[in-house]
Amino acid sequence: MGNVFEVLRKDHEEVKRALAELERGPTAASGANPDQLTLREKLVEELTIEESKHEAVEEEYFWPAVRDHLEDGDALADHAIEQEVAAKFILNDLIGMKTDDPQFEELVGRFITKGREHNAYEEDNVWPAMEKALSAEEAEELGRKVEEGKKIAPTRPHPHTPPKPGILKAAGPAVAAADRVRDAATGRGQD
Ligand SMILES: [Fe+2]
Ligand SMILES: [Fe+2]
Repeated sequence: MGNVFEVLRKDHEEVKRALAELERGPTAASGANPDQLTLREKLVEELTIEESKHEAVEEEYFWPAVRDHLEDGDALADHAIEQEVAAKFILNDLIGMKTDDPQFEELVGRFITKGREHNAYEEDNVWPAMEKALSAEEAEELGRKVEEGKKIAPTRPHPHTPPKPGILKAAGPAVAAADRVRDAATGRGQD
């Protein structure tokens, strides 16, 4: 637990670690053995699950708060959500894709760039202003909602679902449950 910035920052740190590991390789082209390639696919899978949950709770709780509390909140939220949707399309294409697919590394490379851009945008352009705008209680309360929301958030990116608040409350549990059933059937997200 913690305030919303601590909760979101912890997710960002995890994503950054995963992106650094993906960047380090090795890849199929740079001589990875079959075990390393399987781990690479697993890492992309975990990253997709974590990202899907993270962006879903931001869209449900964080961006509405940004729109409410900051004068330029709409512009900040709109830009960030645009980045999130673009990233979701990349991750969606990567679902179930193997490292021997010629598109795999191209998509991973694109996600590394876009993911870093997006994290930096939130950290540098949004969080500092929000840290000033929210009271300690509000930041705690939002942190709690985000943390709780992640438990019922979808584990797949769903790039065609409108990135609007209310989705998580209305369709979220059903979508998340369907995602988890599919994950269990395919062994996705398991060791
Ligand atoms: Fe985001
Ligand atoms: Fe984020």
